[in-house]
Amino acid sequence: MGKGGVGKSTSAALTSLFWARKGFQVMLVSLDPAHNQSDIFEKTLSDKPLQITTNLSAIEIEQTYWIRKYLKDVQQQINRTYSYLTAFNLEKYFTVIKYSPGLEEYALVLAFEKIHKDFEELDYLVFDMPPTALSLKFFSLPSLSLVWVDHLLVLREEIIKKRELITKIKLGRKEIERDKVLKKIDEIRRQYQKLKAIFEDPEWTQIYLVLNPDRLSQAESVRIFDALKEMGIPIYQTIQNKMGGHASCEAIEAAFSRIPRLIFPYSEKPLIGINNLAQFLDINDHVVSEQIGVR
Ligand SMILES: Nc1ncnc2c1ncn2[C@@H]1O[C@H](COP(=O)(O)OP(=O)(O)OP(=O)(O)O)[C@@H](O)[C@H]1O
Ligand SMILES: [Mg+2]
Repeated sequence: MGKGGVGKSTSAALTSLFWARKGFQVMLVSLDPAHNQSDIFEKTLSDKPLQITTNLSAIEIEQTYWIRKYLKDVQQQINRTYSYLTAFNLEKYFTVIKYSPGLEEYALVLAFEKIHKDFEELDYLVFDMPPTALSLKFFSLPSLSLVWVDHLLVLREEIIKKRELITKIKLGRKEIERDKVLKKIDEIRRQYQKLKAIFEDPEWTQIYLVLNPDRLSQAESVRIFDALKEMGIPIYQTIQNKMGGHASCEAIEAAFSRIPRLIFPYSEKPLIGINNLAQFLDINDHVVSEQIGVR
């Protein structure tokens, strides 16, 4: 996480390469629709994993694919549950719906779950995150949805109770056990509870907050820290990037005094291409090895 241009993608590339060179199996996942990893590694990345070097592969999440998938799933669900209605054709409205508020974060969450499942045997999944606003929505989606889902559960149970009066006479059977909607709501609830637990547990999710010595990036970092704290999600480490000379991040020293920090100096040589990245890690090995946590 971090303000635009502070070096999130570069830091994700550097830390991924660092762990890969230590012998860990790493997948670098670009969740940012801007997809800068292709430029950083000078390789054409796609939604299929591409090996960059020993132990390191990278993949780009195609947001439109996941938005389409999410909408298709919803459409199927509606058609299945309400089969008595005329088939609902969402495809017709896709071009408009894909710009609906909220869809981007749903798409990212779906993609995240899939990546998490497909590559769970790897040592590290490194996510290059989208801009702050979208990233915060992504992290808050499980808790927010749970508030919704809990209300839906209560509503559905009420509906079932009321309907039961009628079905009792008609069928004389309880409907609650075979209510499709209730089952689906419960399924969604379990899915979000699992995600929420993954985001909140530092054993699973370690958020690196990248910042620069300038005031604006430090101010945004404090806001990100506060927003995540409200969600119960801790910051694992800060990366003070593009540091040089007498630069310091004093504005955040007090607020972040308990969070371990990693310092990446300003690099005169562009941090593009695997050789330059590897050279940067070699030059800064004394700092990096001490400071990047290895689980
Ligand atoms: N330590 C560094 N020294 C010098 N240049 C750096 C350093 N880190 C990053 N840069 C450069 O800063 C620019 C922005 O970096 P990067 O794209 O990684 O930032 P970002 O936070 O991912 O941006 P965005 O918000 O657009 O996703 C790039 O040109 C990158 O090469
Ligand atoms: Mg980036």
